[in-house]
Amino acid sequence: MYSTKSEGPRRGRSFDSTNIGLTFEEKQLNNEMNKSAFPKIHENKDNKIVSAEKGRVAVVFSLKNEVGGLVKALKLFQENQVNLVHIESRKSRRRNSEFEIFVDCDSNHEQLNEIIHLLRKHVNIVEMDAPDNRLPEENELDDVPWFPKKISDLDRCANRVLMYGSDLDADHPGFKDNVYRKRRKYFADLAMGYKHGDAIPRIEFTEEEVKTWGVVFRELNHLYPTHACCEYLNNLPLLIKYCKCREDNIPQLEDVSRFLRERTGFTIRPVAGYLSPRDFLAGLAFRVFHCTQYVRHSSDPLYTPEPDTCHELLGHVPLLAEPSFAQFSQEIGLASLGASDDEVQKLATCYFFTVEFGLCKQEGQLRAYGAGLLSSISELKHALSGNAQIIPFDPQVTCKQECIITTFQDVYFVSDSFEEAKVKMREFAKTIKRPFTVRYNPYTQSVDVLKDTPSISSVVEELRHELDIVGDALSRLDKQLQD
Ligand SMILES: [Fe+2]
Repeated sequence: MYSTKSEGPRRGRSFDSTNIGLTFEEKQLNNEMNKSAFPKIHENKDNKIVSAEKGRVAVVFSLKNEVGGLVKALKLFQENQVNLVHIESRKSRRRNSEFEIFVDCDSNHEQLNEIIHLLRKHVNIVEMDAPDNRLPEENELDDVPWFPKKISDLDRCANRVLMYGSDLDADHPGFKDNVYRKRRKYFADLAMGYKHGDAIPRIEFTEEEVKTWGVVFRELNHLYPTHACCEYLNNLPLLIKYCKCREDNIPQLEDVSRFLRERTGFTIRPVAGYLSPRDFLAGLAFRVFHCTQYVRHSSDPLYTPEPDTCHELLGHVPLLAEPSFAQFSQEIGLASLGASDDEVQKLATCYFFTVEFGLCKQEGQLRAYGAGLLSSISELKHALSGNAQIIPFDPQVTCKQECIITTFQDVYFVSDSFEEAKVKMREFAKTIKRPFTVRYNPYTQSVDVLKDTPSISSVVEELRHELDIVGDALSRLDKQLQD
């Protein structure tokens, strides 16, 4: 979950290309935290809230309605031999009626993972982060921001959400609806409890949620034959067939994840709220797509101020099932690993104008492949109306374009194909200043960091073997043709 898209009425704020990924809320949250009495908190290079000292971990949580919940939570730190350096409580700035507990402790990554896992039984985690997001054993890449090296490392990123559960803006359609807010918290808690390898919890959607989904599904399906790219049109029937994607049924993320894994190796990971561009793009590097599971508010099915499961399933999934598009998405993710904030921002902007709002030419006609367009009736019509400004996709130009979340984009970027976009992104990625390059290893679902002769030699060895297979296949073919 990364981009926001609106349908129908528009809200009156936008963000520039340096603030992509709801930096508004992030700043709000940071401001609140900075204003609070919590000590030793500051922003790191990623605008994340962290402790100031190395090895120090800050965890903020709220208590569930359980007798002795605080004692149980604190005992977990003791039982895991984690030294508590500071603890205090304060009134929540997110929910006025609640209190939050701030704990500052010395911990390594393993201990932290264990404690967070156990803590969730008793508390709701609001915020956590480790100093500089870097583990002591991972310091071999000096001056490089921490990034996940293996797919399970995404457990560290996926809970660093900028908004959580029932924290809705005052102008959100569900702001005054306590039942909706409670439901949103239910989805958020499920996502926060998710770990790599778990099955995604199945949801029993309410009649109201299915009805809302049904309106979106029906309206968009009228437009797809004339507005969506051919890859989308080829894959949507598969989603309908294998994931029960119908007007009267919302697909389960677990089924969608299995479907995508078979098609392109992509999997779905539920997420509780907005991730930063860095964390979201990191998921793509491992062919993991962070997905919301809640449904927009029923008062206006054609409007949502944020991505919801309608956007994810109808906008993103059919194209993630397309091998060339999956590869394109992963390459943006790989390029982001260990890149500077500035360069992550440029990649995020390119992602925004391709994966979310991209257009392509097919048989002389403009078609949409961006999920933001394919899940927004009014903007899908607008982008292909002949009135929108459309220019060729060029990462060097696109990365400077302002991203707008409150109204239609000022400009859309068109590519001849995903292949063409991929080649351009690949060239752009080479301009990113990193003292290494990365390569995804599908066998181990990890990222190989190529930074010295031994690591590069090992790739060369693998490539030799692959070429050997190709050579063998060619010689067998040759033999058959001669016989
Ligand atoms: Fe999206």
